[in-house]
Amino acid sequence: MVKKIGVLTSGGDAPGMNAAVRSVVRSAIALGLEVYGIHDGYLGMYEGRIERLYRKSVSEKMGHGGTFLGTARLPEFADQEVREKAIENLRIYGIDAVVTIGGDGTYRGALALSKMGIRTIAIPGTIDNDIAGTKFTIGFDTALNTAVEAVDKLRDTSSSHRRCSIVEVMGRNCGDLAIWTAIAVGAECVICKETGFNLEEIIENVTKSAKSKNHAIIIAAEHMVDINELAREVSERTPFEARTTVLGYIQRGGCPSAKDRVLASEMGVKAVQTLVETDETGVCVCDEGEIIATLPIEKAINGDDTAPVLEKYKVFKMLW
Ligand code: F6P
Repeated sequence: MVKKIGVLTSGGDAPGMNAAVRSVVRSAIALGLEVYGIHDGYLGMYEGRIERLYRKSVSEKMGHGGTFLGTARLPEFADQEVREKAIENLRIYGIDAVVTIGGDGTYRGALALSKMGIRTIAIPGTIDNDIAGTKFTIGFDTALNTAVEAVDKLRDTSSSHRRCSIVEVMGRNCGDLAIWTAIAVGAECVICKETGFNLEEIIENVTKSAKSKNHAIIIAAEHMVDINELAREVSERTPFEARTTVLGYIQRGGCPSAKDRVLASEMGVKAVQTLVETDETGVCVCDEGEIIATLPIEKAINGDDTAPVLEKYKVFKMLW
């Protein structure tokens, strides 16, 4: 039976991570557990930077962006010896289970720990929305709203100057941020892994939009195309002069949206309930729409999330 649990945030920070930690801490205490915060993700686990958390430790954290526990990327956690040292530190505190909040890399770490006998449950915290099995990851909604707000501002200036704005958004290998932003701002073109990059189609769409509008917007997912090179093509081959903007890390910051706070709260409770009421380990919590469920981490890591992006792309194309 679980008595002491650890909680950590790992990988790229996401708005709503604090709300998730708060939920884990509060619900664990309500169910009679001791909770320990592990600083800077797996790095803090390896270095033994662990402290007891109380109700008060998570007061007034809900609405803050970032993660007060800190986060890090630790590729070395793939090494057995690194994990063994981390597990030794968990044993020192008597921690029998860990809730890990993060993305793909965090899930892999949780799975590896589970295979070494530590009970783990992962919560999807990433702006990328790239975890299979869950409709939404914590942070996606806030990042999307940040991107939309930024593009709305860019539209003002591009309309005034009769320009085409090319905006690069994050998402790692997932097109969700790009496609949702593109729909929400009424963009002319969207470029992401799932839909590919077709220069001729872009030139055609932008040229067409120049007939009825005084601006055009292209949303490009990161790692897909050199946006400066694309701007050169658009400027040379369409009536619009093009300008580029990389939204970058601004998408990871800011107060979490109400939707992210609620999702984080629901997922934190589900993670703790799962640890207390079942023997499940190496699982993650997922937003299935109506309910928050659990799924083996392997399925989340190896699943394919392309279909919902392509569905959104159909909507995008209908509205253009
Ligand atoms: O996973 C979140 C994310 O912001 C991705 O969208 C992006 O590709 C990556 O992290 C950037 O990582 P780093 O913080 O290591 O630069």
